[in-house]
Formats: sequence, C-alpha cells, structure tokens
Amino acid sequence: MNPTSVAIVTGSSRGIGLEIARALGRKGHALLLVARDATALASAQQELEREGLRAATCAVDLRDASCADTVLQRARDAFGEPDVLVNNAGTAPTAKFEATTDAMLDETFALHVKAPLALARAVLPGMRQRGRGCIVQLASTAGLRAFPFTSAYTAAKHAMVGLTRALATELQGTDLRAYAVCPGFVDTEITRSAAAAIAARGKLTKDQAMQKMAEQNVIRRMHTPAEVAATVARLVAERPLGCTFVMDRDPPAFLD
Ligand SMILES: NC(=O)c1ccc[n+]([C@@H]2O[C@H](COP(=O)([O-])OP(=O)(O)OC[C@H]3O[C@@H](n4cnc5c(N)ncnc54)[C@H](OP(=O)(O)O)[C@@H]3O)[C@@H](O)[C@H]2O)c1
Repeated sequence: MNPTSVAIVTGSSRGIGLEIARALGRKGHALLLVARDATALASAQQELEREGLRAATCAVDLRDASCADTVLQRARDAFGEPDVLVNNAGTAPTAKFEATTDAMLDETFALHVKAPLALARAVLPGMRQRGRGCIVQLASTAGLRAFPFTSAYTAAKHAMVGLTRALATELQGTDLRAYAVCPGFVDTEITRSAAAAIAARGKLTKDQAMQKMAEQNVIRRMHTPAEVAATVARLVAERPLGCTFVMDRDPPAFLD
C-alpha cells in the first residue's frame, strides 16, 4: 500500500467508526476522524496515537452537507489527498410509521444520504485523477429489508445502498471502488440506547432487549464493531469486484 494513503472516516469518535479508523490505521493509513463532538474526537485521536497511528480530527455536523469541502481541506492540510472515504456517521431514530415526521426523514436523509453524496463528490475528482480510491458506505441490512419502527432509517439506508450501487456502476472499468457494507445489529451505543428505551417501557430488561435484537440477525448474535471494521479494512486492502457486501449471512458475501 502507498505509505501516504489517507483515509477519511466519518462518525469515528466511537463505535464502529472508531474501530474502522483503528483497523485502517493499523494498515498504514493516516486518518481524518470526523464527528460533531470535538472532545470525543480528541480522545479518540489520543487513543489511536497512543497505538502509534497517525490521526487528525475535524469536528463538523454532517447534516450540513456544505461542510464536505471543510472535511476535504482538513484531510489535505493534515496529510494530503484522501484515497479512502468511509461514510459511517449515523443515527437511528425510532418511531411508529405514522409518528415518523418530515423532520425525522429530512435529518436521517441528510446524514445517511446527502452527506455521503457530498463527501463522495468532493473526493472523487482527486481519486479519478490519481486512478485510485475506495469509498465505503456503512449501510445496514436495514438498507435491504425492513425492521419495525425504523421507517426513516430504513428508507435512508435503502437510499444509501441505491446511491452506492449507482456510483459502483459508474466506476466499472476503473481501479476505483464503491462498497455498501451491510451488517445486522452491532453491539454499540445505538443498539444499547435502543435496548434501554425498550427496557424503560417495562416489559423486558435491557439484556433481554439486546438478546431480542441479536436474534433478528440471521447469524443469531450481534456483530462486534471490530468485525465490521475488519470487513471494511479487508475490502479497502483487497479491493474485490462487487458492491453490496452483506455481513449478516453465513458466510458473509456480496449480494451484487
Ligand atoms: N449499531 C448497529 O447495530 C448498526 C447496524 C448496522 C449499521 N450501522 C451503521 O453504522 C454506523 C455507525 O453506527 P454506530 O453503531 O457505531 O453508532 P454510534 O456508536 O452511535 O456512533 C455514531 C458516530 O456518528 C457520529 N455522528 C452522529 N451524528 C453525526 C452528525 N450529524 N455529524 C457528524 N457525525 C455524527 C457520532 O459522533 P457525534 O455524536 O459526536 O457526532 C459517532 O461518532 C451508522 O451509519 C449506523 O447506521 C449500525
């Protein structure tokens, strides 16, 4: 791998994104960590630097798509032109279908669809010029099928998968790659707060709620953030042909 390879990883202050940054850093990428909370980003940066990895941070709210240029400039200033973009930042609001508001839909699409598109638009010209690059979208099995009480999230993740497929068709015949990685439920803050919300309704404990979610995965257990990160790092390193990679099947495989 080119030793100056630069990876932008959004949503990398914690959870799956932090593990993806760690996995890419261990493979020699210099890392731009992106999230809203500057304090959490600084502690993620310190954690990675203690391991000897190179990391810089950029605190922005990605719901404002105009920050894509700021993110790209920060990567350039810190390390150089990015070869890898991982669109991982996300939130997962829950509501009954008829309680899903336009504002929820707008916010979810801003973060899961418009920001990834804006960031991809920003980095692609440089990637095309250099003839190398890889864009990974952290999608979900919610981008391929539906789960109850997650209409906005399910719609946004379906759109994210569609966007990635569209990009992949336009990258055919080049050395550039676009992947949509689809895990099932992963043990992170998002799932733990969903379990806490279920427990607050009084019928299940938090552990039972986590177990119910795990059982919705085809593999009947939750993925770990490290497993998702290893998958992303392998795709980036090996650059196989394919677009939609489903982790929640045995064995994990490309759908298309
Ligand atoms: N956990 C699961 O079961 C699961 C399953 C499939 C797919 N995924 C996907 O995996 C991705 C990561 O999820 P996770 O479970 O690791 O979540 P998480 O632990 O809650 O981390 C989310 C990350 O995104 C950042 N973020 C959230 N809103 C942002 C915004 N408006 N602008 C910039 N950064 C923002 C957060 O930092 P700040 O809050 O500081 O901004 C944080 O770094 C998401 O796209 C999610 O949809 C998760």
